[in-house]
Amino acid sequence: MTKTANPALEAIRQDLPHLIGPLPGPRAQEVIARDHRSVSPSYTRGYPLVAKRGEGAIVEDVDGNRFLDFNAGIAVVATGHCHPRVVEAIREQAGNLIHMSGTDFYYEALVDLAEKLGALTPGGLERRVSFCNSGAEAVEGAMKLARYSTGRSGFIAFLGAFHGRTLGALSLTARKAVQRRGFGPLLPGVVHAPYPNCYRCPFGQTPANCAVECAKFIEDTLLKTIAPAEEVAAIVIEPVQGEGGYIVPPQKFFDELARIAERHGILLVCDEVQSGMGRTGKMWASEHFNLTPDIMTVAKGIASGLPLGATVARADLMRWTPGAHASTFGGNPVACAAALVTIELLERELIDNAARMGAHLMARMRDWPARFPVVGEVRGLGLMLGIELVRDQQSKTRAPELRDRVVNLAFERGLLVLGAGDNTLRLSPALVITRDQCDFALDTLEECLALAMRED
Ligand SMILES: Cc1ncc(COP(=O)(O)O)c(C=O)c1O
Repeated sequence: MTKTANPALEAIRQDLPHLIGPLPGPRAQEVIARDHRSVSPSYTRGYPLVAKRGEGAIVEDVDGNRFLDFNAGIAVVATGHCHPRVVEAIREQAGNLIHMSGTDFYYEALVDLAEKLGALTPGGLERRVSFCNSGAEAVEGAMKLARYSTGRSGFIAFLGAFHGRTLGALSLTARKAVQRRGFGPLLPGVVHAPYPNCYRCPFGQTPANCAVECAKFIEDTLLKTIAPAEEVAAIVIEPVQGEGGYIVPPQKFFDELARIAERHGILLVCDEVQSGMGRTGKMWASEHFNLTPDIMTVAKGIASGLPLGATVARADLMRWTPGAHASTFGGNPVACAAALVTIELLERELIDNAARMGAHLMARMRDWPARFPVVGEVRGLGLMLGIELVRDQQSKTRAPELRDRVVNLAFERGLLVLGAGDNTLRLSPALVITRDQCDFALDTLEECLALAMRED
């Protein structure tokens, strides 16, 4: 086991994977067979991992195999699996008060967390917080508040976006046809703009000659044709597109987007469900771009794995009347206690660690496009990193089957990664990840990329 000089990290298991037999093992096979008979077939499991326990960035399966988790439960366990401080806070709170319903009663943890989130949200404005249980619900809250406070009903979202699967959020989501097929009609008045993906510029430009066509399209085309500004409540954007492929827009896009929103009285909603809670090396991805969201949505990493979501808004916007919006479980005391410790750990050292480890990973991956002809681009911020795989670098033809092969080869070597977008590998480990674990992941991915290329 390697040691670090970091006190909060020292409490965490920092070892590397250890596989004891072929995968999936016998217990895993049993559970998977039962799962296939009883659990919704709409779930998308890429490989046969049946998790039993987790510690830091290590996950042990039901057969005793240990894996290095470079996905963190889809960017959720920010402080790692079962951080001792988080477990302690959960235990203590569960022994005192598990549920009360913040909708109808007061309790202090809810207020503590609302104050904390309000103070942390970019822009230094007075904020109010509405709590819920998931990312999709946080987005629903943002959509309802945007309509309620502006009196307008429309939304502008982006192609490739993922904002959740409830019907409102799904109307903004524009990631995969399978996520929408059969569920319509969705909300009217939602239109989508191209997301600024500079590797595959929707307007055929290069970063050097880009005139922020993606943002201008909103003002010059959408607002003038199908989405009159006075009917658009909000522009909803992921500051780094997550499920769409870990895509980072250029600063000038956000400058222009903020100008357009302000000019037309359209609210800016930043969906930080995946990019928030320190993952990008700052508390919020919005901070990288000097964005001040009118409304921000938070979930995933906020409570290190307990279900919690939050819609954080400008106080002067969140003025809906009692009964207008609430949730029985939202802001449950146990989840709030976990969130308060999570934020403390993030602020104390884990955001810094995310920035440091992200820089280390990026430094080693930067030359992958030169070393591996199938790597089109390596991109990202902090520990939100994407590796886009292509058939060849000239045509940029997407290589989804190669990406899936690398994901599976990595699993066979004890490394848990997932895809994002059609052909991108995503790295989204817990923020407690160590340098040795990063190096293991990089060595393994290099080996898997070389192997997948040879097989191809
Ligand atoms: C940016 C973003 N928003 C919203 C969601 C939906 O979150 P949940 O699955 O908790 O409903 C996700 C989930 O991946 C997401 O990445």
